[in-house]
This record gives sequence, C-alpha cells and structure tokens, in this order.
Amino acid sequence: MGRVIVIANQKGGVGKTTTAINLAASIAVMERRVLIIDTDPQSNASSGVGIDVGNLKNTIYEVLINNQPLEDIIQKSLLPYLFIAPAHPRLVGAEIEMVNMLAREHKLRQALEPILDDYDYIFIDCPPSLNMLTVNSFTAADSVLIPIQCEYFALEGLTQLLNTIHLVQKSLNRKLDIEGVLLTMYDGRLNLSRMVMEEVKQYFGEKVYKTVINRNVRLGEAPSYGQPVLTFDINSMGAKNYLQLAEEFLKNDA
Ligand SMILES: Nc1ncnc2c1ncn2[C@@H]1O[C@H](COP(=O)(O)OP(=O)(O)OP(=O)(O)O)[C@@H](O)[C@H]1O
Ligand SMILES: [Mg+2]
Repeated sequence: MGRVIVIANQKGGVGKTTTAINLAASIAVMERRVLIIDTDPQSNASSGVGIDVGNLKNTIYEVLINNQPLEDIIQKSLLPYLFIAPAHPRLVGAEIEMVNMLAREHKLRQALEPILDDYDYIFIDCPPSLNMLTVNSFTAADSVLIPIQCEYFALEGLTQLLNTIHLVQKSLNRKLDIEGVLLTMYDGRLNLSRMVMEEVKQYFGEKVYKTVINRNVRLGEAPSYGQPVLTFDINSMGAKNYLQLAEEFLKNDA
C-alpha cells in the first residue's frame, strides 16, 4: 500500500512545491510509482511537471467538491513512473464550499482509499496556509515532511504548524507522524544559513535530513519549462541534492 506524505509549512516560498516535484521525480527515476497531489490553488506543482492548467476540467477541486473519483483526474508526466493529480485556481473557492459538507476533513482520505495500492509513494503539495485543504491533507497522510528555508525567522510559525499536526493526531488521524525536516535554499557561504541549520537541528534533532538542499538557480528555472530539475539539468547541484534526498528518504523507509 502506498505511503502518503504531505509537504507542509504555512510559510510561503520555503520550497514546498520544489520539494514535492523534485523529490517525487527523483524517487520515480528509481522506479517507484509516485503520485503528486496538488492541493494548492496556485497549481505550481501541476504546471511544474508540464501540465497546462488553464482549461483543465478534471482537477482536485472536482474530487473534493463533486466527488469525482481521484483516478479520473490523474495524468501522466514526462517520467514513466511519475503521475500528477492537478489543481486549478478555482480551488480557492473550495474552502467555503466545503463548510457545510459532512465529514469534510476526510474528503481527500476517502478519495485516496481506492488508489492507494496503485502507487508506492503519494506526495501532497500544500498551499501556504493552515486551512481546510491542509487539514484534509493531514487527515489523509501517514506523515508530514516540513521544508524550512535557511532564512531569517526560519522557525517562525512552526509552533502553529506543530499544534495543527497535534490537533489532527488527537481527533482526525492518530497515525500522523513527522517524516522529516528539510533545510532548503542553503548557502554555505552565509553564517545565517549555518545558524539556521544549527537552530533547526536543536529543535528537531534526528528528524532533520542529513541532505540539505542548496540554493541553486536551476531549481528556480526548471518549473518554467514544466520539468523537474533532473530532466532539465541532471548535472546541476539541485538535481544532485534531490537525488540524494530521495536515497535518504528511501533508506529511512526501508
Ligand atoms: N533550492 C532552491 N534554490 C533556488 N531557488 C529555489 C530553491 N527552492 C525553491 N526555489 C525557488 O523559490 C521559490 C519558492 O519555492 P517554492 O515554490 O517551492 O516554495 P513553496 O513553499 O511551494 O511556495 P508557496 O508557499 O507559494 O507554495 C520558487 O521560485 C522556487 O523556484
Ligand atoms: Mg508551493
């Protein structure tokens, strides 16, 4: 049965989507079947693997609001083992539309049930907020992977994130675990990056991945070509970092 990992941090621009795309792609080239579920109205994970989001009729919105089977919306990517359940900007309305739904926190979990056996890993890319979409993802997941940008105020807001995880553990999903904490946009030349790394290690201890994602321009360029960095520029630092992360991730899971 596939493991479901949600990539979350309510802070914007910390590398959630970059990690969803590139960790998923790196595991996929190791010949595991991987699905990315995009639950962010910005739809960056979808466009980042080459989906033309513009006129999409079948998206995660239809799954959550109209009970369309998840299987119907899944699309192939450039990589044979990588699949995507895309989002669309109209997902912005889902929060309000779900207010009166029965068992609304469980919508995504229910949608996932029938396809769990079709994939080895399912990564959910979250929006930068702690709303009903995020709670749906936490309820559907086995674990949470938290990217942290090596920047000022890196730990700000994490108490709130951890509180939300605890609340979900208490009432909606007992088995929810912390998968790992990933340092992103690291720059070894900066004292700041090294300080943030120390601080995060003190706070999360063993949960912090040994692999660190360096700041790398190719990681920023690849999405505009609709590609993971690994097909865009296999020799880049970004590709190397995410392949190494995939190895560490799989080792932890073995
Ligand atoms: N390691 C990196 N090196 C250089 N640029 C990066 C790196 N990781 C991410 N970026 C760039 O930083 C920006 C934010 O990254 P990303 O979209 O992955 O963050 P996010 O947490 O998903 O953002 P949001 O909260 O808006 O969903 C993007 O332009 C991305 O291309
Ligand atoms: Mg994002």
